[in-house]
Amino acid sequence: MIIDGKQIAAALKADVASRTAECQAKYGRTPHLVVIRVGEDPASVVYVRNKAKACDEAGIRNTTTVLEESCSEERLLGLIAKLNADPDVDGILVQLPLPRQISEANVIAAISREKDVDGFHPLNVAGLWQKTPHLAPCTPKGIMKLLEAAGVDPKGKRAVVIGRSNIVGLPVGKMLLDANATVTFCHTRTRDLAAATREAEILVVAAGRPKIITGDMVSEGVVIIDVGMDRDPETGKLCGDVDFASCAPKAAAITPVPGGVGPMTIACLMENTLECFLQRVK
Ligand code: GUN
Repeated sequence: MIIDGKQIAAALKADVASRTAECQAKYGRTPHLVVIRVGEDPASVVYVRNKAKACDEAGIRNTTTVLEESCSEERLLGLIAKLNADPDVDGILVQLPLPRQISEANVIAAISREKDVDGFHPLNVAGLWQKTPHLAPCTPKGIMKLLEAAGVDPKGKRAVVIGRSNIVGLPVGKMLLDANATVTFCHTRTRDLAAATREAEILVVAAGRPKIITGDMVSEGVVIIDVGMDRDPETGKLCGDVDFASCAPKAAAITPVPGGVGPMTIACLMENTLECFLQRVK
């Protein structure tokens, strides 16, 4: 089975859109997301454009602010302080990565916890690890929803997560643990990666390396979630971290790239924006 992230995301977006449509009448205004991009990183340009488009489709007010590559940390922090104080702004997202002169940690910590639609603020991260969640980060949240939509209950299953980033690997591992899976983290220093991946009943791959998981590395019946957004070095086309052609025949379910995790991340951002708004208007 191919897990159709595009369709599952469309259903979530439609639900968010209908709830957003009620906001004006109920609360006198509409959720407002501000997305900040610094510089012209080509992937970020595309991601930010897609986020704005999804907001438009969901009826969420959105503003994109672009700062030049040479922008100082001070200037970005000043803008964030202004947005934190603006009662008309419900969500603030600073697209990562940032240019070298700016500390991502400082920027993430500067965003008001209540407007942190990414769920990256230290207090929101602590909330996830201490089971007092405020907002879950978008990609891991989307992955859990994809598993649910595919009818996969992680309870008691062996889940293997490849990657240990703050954005995907660590939080999705924690969410799988909370869903009662037995979780193994693998990474660049893991010895005999294939031995670990063959044990997986659920395999989440967020390595950022094109097609590092091949059919010989997975067991029959595995459920594969591919978080990769890579360029195939041979064809130059968009591909995932998983070699779909060799893995799909063995998998009980698998997400494609594109059309898997990506659309779900954006739909969850829409939901998080609405949730931040609802928390604030209450
Ligand atoms: N860069 C890659 N993924 C993300 C994300 O989920 N949020 C932000 N802000 N930047 C990213």
